[in-house]
Amino acid sequence: MNNPVSVAVLVSGGGTNLQAIIDARKSGIIKNAEIRLVISSNPNAYALERAKENGIATEVISKKEFITAENTEAQIIKILERYGIELIVLAGYMQVLSKNFTKRYERRIINIHPSLIPSFCGDGFYGLKVHEAALKKGVKVTGATVHFVNEITDGGEIIMQKAVKVLKNDTPETLQKRVMQLAEWKILPEAIEKISKEIKKEREK
Ligand code: GRF
Repeated sequence: MNNPVSVAVLVSGGGTNLQAIIDARKSGIIKNAEIRLVISSNPNAYALERAKENGIATEVISKKEFITAENTEAQIIKILERYGIELIVLAGYMQVLSKNFTKRYERRIINIHPSLIPSFCGDGFYGLKVHEAALKKGVKVTGATVHFVNEITDGGEIIMQKAVKVLKNDTPETLQKRVMQLAEWKILPEAIEKISKEIKKEREK
């Protein structure tokens, strides 16, 4: 494909969503984007291995090393610029980005969240906590959301959502797994393709 959009995926953990993006690029679901870089906030993230296995450049930028959020973000920006990144994908990235950062990349950062926003989102809703809250509330349907990232946690414009049924015997763990398999791993690659097409259109303007 001609001149695909350059994507950086920001991770902190296992990277199953990163894997889904890599697989979607290979299978042709993603045609208009190329993963050029994976940045991890955690040097031990398994996501880094997935990137390396697929010949994708990796960088570790941990807050420990750069101490303040400001320094950390300045370092991230430097690297994003070095790689000519046009779209930033947060896939299990555990650091909150400042308003300064999100403004700089307005409509150029997307995130995957494991619930149907505006339910079970915002500060403190991450990982299994999201699914615990959904089960506690007794919702019959949950799902995942891809949204643009702004200064409000999980508050940016919604790009895509997919619903998943809650089953009677679900535990937070079984629900988390099903939401990933049936929703997250599908809509994240689809949203990347959608936004990349839009970025390519804008390039032509
Ligand atoms: C996913 O549940 C995602 O929705 C959330 O963090 C988790 C990351 O998992 N933002 P993985 O690292 O992609 O396996």
